[in-house]
Amino acid sequence: MKSPQPKKQAAQSTKQAKPTSQQAPEQVSAKERATLLKALQVTQAQGPIVEMGCFQGDTSVLLAKFGRPLYLYDSFAGLPPKTTEDTSSAGQNFRAGELYASKKQLLERFHKAHLPRPFVKKAWFADLTPQDLPDQIAFAFLDGDFYDSIATSLALVTPKIAPRGVIVVHDYQNIELPGVAKAVNQFLAQNPNWHLQVRADLAILQK
Ligand SMILES: C[S@@+](CC[C@H](N)C(=O)[O-])C[C@H]1O[C@@H](n2cnc3c(N)ncnc32)[C@H](O)[C@@H]1O
Repeated sequence: MKSPQPKKQAAQSTKQAKPTSQQAPEQVSAKERATLLKALQVTQAQGPIVEMGCFQGDTSVLLAKFGRPLYLYDSFAGLPPKTTEDTSSAGQNFRAGELYASKKQLLERFHKAHLPRPFVKKAWFADLTPQDLPDQIAFAFLDGDFYDSIATSLALVTPKIAPRGVIVVHDYQNIELPGVAKAVNQFLAQNPNWHLQVRADLAILQK
C-alpha cells in the first residue's frame, strides 16, 4: 500500500496535512509556482533546467514548457528518513517513504501532456556524482524537503550554475521542514558570493 501523501504547509498556511490518497495533493502552491516560473522566465543564463526532487511531476511539466533541456532527479522511493536537523515541533508529517511516485508515473505525465521526454535519474541524491548532472545549469529547483537532501543538492548544482543562473529552494519558511532553511543558511554562510532573496516561501539564490 502507498504511504500517506502529506501536503506541505507554508508558515502562514492554515491547511491541514492530507491523509492517504491515490492522487497526492500538489506540493507547490499556486503563489509559489507563479514566483518560481517568473524567476525562470527572467533568467538570462544559458543552459538546462534541473529539478532535484520531482515527485509526480506537477512542477516538472510546467518547467518543461520553457523549451530548455530538463533534468529530473528523485529517489522514486519517497522521502528518506529525517535527521535531527529536520525535527520540528510543528508535527510529525513527512516520514520516510512518504511522497512516493514512480518514474513510470512521471513519464506518463509528460506523455499525456505531449511534452518531450525529460532526462530522468532515479537515485538518492547522495549517490549522484557530478557526471550525472549537465555540465552547465541555468536554473535549478531544489525540493528535497530535508536538510541532507537540500545540502546535497546545493553541493551538486552550485559548481555547475551558469553565469546569471538561479537556484530556487522550496520550503525555506516552512515550519514543518526546518532542515531546508538550515541547509540554505549554512550554504550562504560558507559561500558569501551567493545572495538570497525570499519570496513566497522560496529561497532564490544568485551570485
Ligand atoms: C515535495 S516532493 C517534490 C515535489 C515536486 N518538486 C513538485 O513540485 O511537485 C519531494 C521529493 O523529493 C524526493 N527526495 C527527497 N529527498 C531525496 C533524496 N535525498 N534523494 C532522492 N530523492 C529525494 C522525494 O522522493 C520526493 O519525491
